[in-house]
Amino acid sequence: MQMYDLIQKTRRKEALTEEQIHFIVDGFTRGEIPEYMMSAWMMAVCCQGLTDAETAALTLAMRDSGECLSMESVGGITVDKHSTGGIGDKTTLLLAPIVAACGGYVPKMSGRGLGFTGGTIDKLESIPNFSTSLPMERFLEITKEIGCCVIAQSGNLVPADKKMYALRNLTATVDSIPLICSSIMSKKLALGADCILLDVKFGHGAFMKTPEDAQLLARAMVDVGKRAGKQCRAVLTDMNAPLGANVGNALEVLEVIRILRGEVRNPLSELSTTLAAHMLSLSGKGSVEKCMEMARTALDSGAALRKFADMIAAQGGDAEVTEHPELLPQSDAKYTASAPNDGYISSMQSEEVGLACLELGAGRTAASSEIDYGAGVELHAFVGEAVTAGQPLFTVYGKTEELCKKAAARILQCTQITAEKPEAQPLLYQIIS
Ligand code: URA
Repeated sequence: MQMYDLIQKTRRKEALTEEQIHFIVDGFTRGEIPEYMMSAWMMAVCCQGLTDAETAALTLAMRDSGECLSMESVGGITVDKHSTGGIGDKTTLLLAPIVAACGGYVPKMSGRGLGFTGGTIDKLESIPNFSTSLPMERFLEITKEIGCCVIAQSGNLVPADKKMYALRNLTATVDSIPLICSSIMSKKLALGADCILLDVKFGHGAFMKTPEDAQLLARAMVDVGKRAGKQCRAVLTDMNAPLGANVGNALEVLEVIRILRGEVRNPLSELSTTLAAHMLSLSGKGSVEKCMEMARTALDSGAALRKFADMIAAQGGDAEVTEHPELLPQSDAKYTASAPNDGYISSMQSEEVGLACLELGAGRTAASSEIDYGAGVELHAFVGEAVTAGQPLFTVYGKTEELCKKAAARILQCTQITAEKPEAQPLLYQIIS
């Protein structure tokens, strides 16, 4: 088998066999296929696409390039969730304890933030002493005992993706549905949970800019998950505006604690409860409606808050933060911006809010960047709400007042206030199963 011929076949839109796809992935992972050939093949995939069978074969070949975990020791049906990423997306921190409080098991490996979207691991690491790096046995033990555990992606899982993703970033081949699908799903399948819920986001602050593109990606991922024998479902959710009130690591943990303590209810708490209900129903706990009731009760009764505190303690963190959130890191300076005129907030471009937070130090511009855990934005009014001139719109937190004012100006520029009340858009757009 010659890599040259396989590149040509994909370029001509001729389908490869499972064996040929394994040859490419194994050869590249072992260093036998050079980067220039792999880049050419991935560019051919970008331009010509792959069939569903080829995408599934690519995903499984990538999954098998490294270690695959077994969830057997957890002793129950395990359920994983993936979000394609967005601004202020802290749903994992809410739904993991909600599902655990309802008797489900959530073993979750998450990523760090790079660029304008935040990473769940960075958010958790803003909790004093919280460890996101645990031995696999401990990860599974905590999942079994508490019902949820969230750690950073293990280096031994899917080495093919690590090499391919680095190359895609340099060769303008990130933006391809079969390549995104195989990258995400190979990691989900290697983790080995029985059920997978995929939260595919669309809008300004998302990878997929339109619902149509999000549908294509969601369908491809659900198809691969099912071919691999998993209970798999996708939800399409709106990421045109930031999710919830707070953006920034410790600020997002603070919002999670306020919701778990019952102090706040907002579209984020509603979406997280819905996602938790889908996870519970995928893992055989009943209809989505019944699971929604269970999830609401877990949230309202404080059971989910106790699970969150238990998980923090099991992972070495200071669980006192759930009682005393002031123990979370706080920035030195802040600045509150006011509404420039009367009207309705008709849009707030989430990508710009993410970029403003990045400038404040809440995210990374390079893998080695240091994070200011306290930095970020707290919104005082949401898209669709009426505001009057001079009313506080949002508060920016950062190292200096100058930095905060600069970020506030950027966010004000991307916030539209109009005389007309905008049409309400549901956060949950579609379910694909
Ligand atoms: N996230 C991934 O893990 N891989 C991609 O290709 C895109 C987003």
